[in-house]
Amino acid sequence: MRRAGSLTLAALCLALAGSAIALGQSARVEQGGKAFIDSGCYGCHMVGRLGTSIGPDLTRVGAKYPREYLDRWLRDPLLQRPTAHMPKLELTEDQVRALAAYLSSLQ
Ligand code: HEC
Repeated sequence: MRRAGSLTLAALCLALAGSAIALGQSARVEQGGKAFIDSGCYGCHMVGRLGTSIGPDLTRVGAKYPREYLDRWLRDPLLQRPTAHMPKLELTEDQVRALAAYLSSLQ
């Protein structure tokens, strides 16, 4: 009886942890969407019908690149593509993670 009880508890904990991760993820995507505006990305990029088309359209960028690539791109575009015309932006670690989560959600 005790054993079954603790198994149920373990399963419950796992389920809760899973939804906490899912929740954290969507909060991060939302935070990234804000950072996209705050960091001025929309000044050079389009997402949907918003933004400016100086750089590539990012509406489906999440389908084009894996998240790790986007993450590295945001840390330093030139490291990723030496001929890139996107300036290196001063982003905090938190902003980079949130932006990468947001961009990879755009599919
Ligand atoms: C001053 C204009 C400018 C700003 C501001 C800017 N970008 Fe860019 N971005 C570019 C240009 C130009 C490219 C194309 C780079 C190349 O290949 O030469 C690019 C490329 C990209 C790419 C790769 C797209 C692809 O299809 O290869 C991503 C992702 C990206 N930018 C995200 C961002 C994010 C997120 C921000 C805000 C933190 C941002 N950019 C701010 C100009 C800008």
